[in-house]
Amino acid sequence: MSFINEILHETDPEKIRKETEFNYREYVNPFALRMFKNASLDIIEGKREGASVWDISGEKYIDCVTGAGIFNVGRHNPEIVAALKDALDVYDMGGWISILRERGLLAKKLAEITPGDLKYSLFCSGGGEAIEVAVKLARGHTGRSGIICMENGYHGVTGFALPATGRDVYKTPFAPLAPGYLHVPFNNLEAVKEAVSEDTAAVLLEPVQGEGGIIPADDDYLHGLRDLCDQHEILLIFDEVQTGFGRTGEMFCAEHSGVVPDIMVLAKSLSGGLYPISCAVFTEEISDFLMTHPFVIINSFGGTSLACLVALATIDYIEKNDLPARARKMGERFMAGLNTIREKYPDLVVDVRGKGLMLGMEFPEDSIGPRMVYQLRKNGVITIYTFNNPKIIRIMPTLVITEEEVDLVLEAMDRSLKQIMVQEERFEKGRQK
Ligand SMILES: Cc1ncc(COP(=O)(O)O)c(C=O)c1O
Repeated sequence: MSFINEILHETDPEKIRKETEFNYREYVNPFALRMFKNASLDIIEGKREGASVWDISGEKYIDCVTGAGIFNVGRHNPEIVAALKDALDVYDMGGWISILRERGLLAKKLAEITPGDLKYSLFCSGGGEAIEVAVKLARGHTGRSGIICMENGYHGVTGFALPATGRDVYKTPFAPLAPGYLHVPFNNLEAVKEAVSEDTAAVLLEPVQGEGGIIPADDDYLHGLRDLCDQHEILLIFDEVQTGFGRTGEMFCAEHSGVVPDIMVLAKSLSGGLYPISCAVFTEEISDFLMTHPFVIINSFGGTSLACLVALATIDYIEKNDLPARARKMGERFMAGLNTIREKYPDLVVDVRGKGLMLGMEFPEDSIGPRMVYQLRKNGVITIYTFNNPKIIRIMPTLVITEEEVDLVLEAMDRSLKQIMVQEERFEKGRQK
């Protein structure tokens, strides 16, 4: 047995937990480990399949975090695994200083499936990196520097992406950041109008704010932004890192409103949950900048042969199984159940909302989100509150989740809220004594 197989087939969960926690404490990041434990997310992933993940101890959980939208095609999808194995039998990653057939095929496919006249793709490995490409393209094409972005938006934590993220806690320790970014309230067209100046290059937003608390952009707002951008020759950039590839009930969230951006950023689920890849897809008009700057992004690992083949297999799987329609159907089932739960616990649940299988439940105060995460884990479901707003927990399962599994999650939510309500009543009685 190779030492890799020994790692893969170790069966003693206690040994694995002790060793892994020791290695995290000593060699990875002791403070991240503590945070995972405090957040009841110290699951050490073992088996992964369909809508579920198993702790190394064999405990099964329905995964409603999915890395904030990485696993749309399901955990460890066997068809995508087979595609990667086929690719590995023939190729390595491919050199970046060469031309790769697979990259061309994927770019062509993305031009076909993305809305409107989005056409060219530049590839990277992560979402933040692809946001950086979008910002560079916008500045390069327009010759202006201003990027209007949204309060509580999340676009990653790398160079040109970090200043776009709308929460200070990620940014303050690293100042000075790249200048030129201006934040305005989300879903507020007037605020964008006021922020526009002669130096504005682009407006950047998520069509459903993910880490901001699962807040869909209004259709009118998106149409208003499109008109405003056209009027001032400003580029509109949609960050579809979480919302892309069927998550919201359409292949891309932009399709709900019919508003086509000039640049669309894709990542997470493009990888099939198996091989990192991200990209910025943009119109031919913007491509003029590439004439003088063909290497607007230079990276070793952006759009490798293996990544592109996995992405092609992933898109094929999403299309063949019509995962956007499935997200709509399961989303409706979830929404009906979540509304019933909200009516049952009016003091604990103030709102349920979302699009397709990008759903959120809002609580009246910060402390309930983390308690709900804890109770849900005990009831067989993993979820997490949104990073920029702990009052909201996200429900973002794989898009292959079955009706039975949706019902199991809803039952677990009902049970968890009941447990929290009992705690609240006990607390209240104690206070009155
Ligand atoms: C909407 C959005 N944009 C960008 C990013 C950054 O992606 P990555 O973590 O791959 O850099 C994320 C990550 O969660 C995201 O949710």
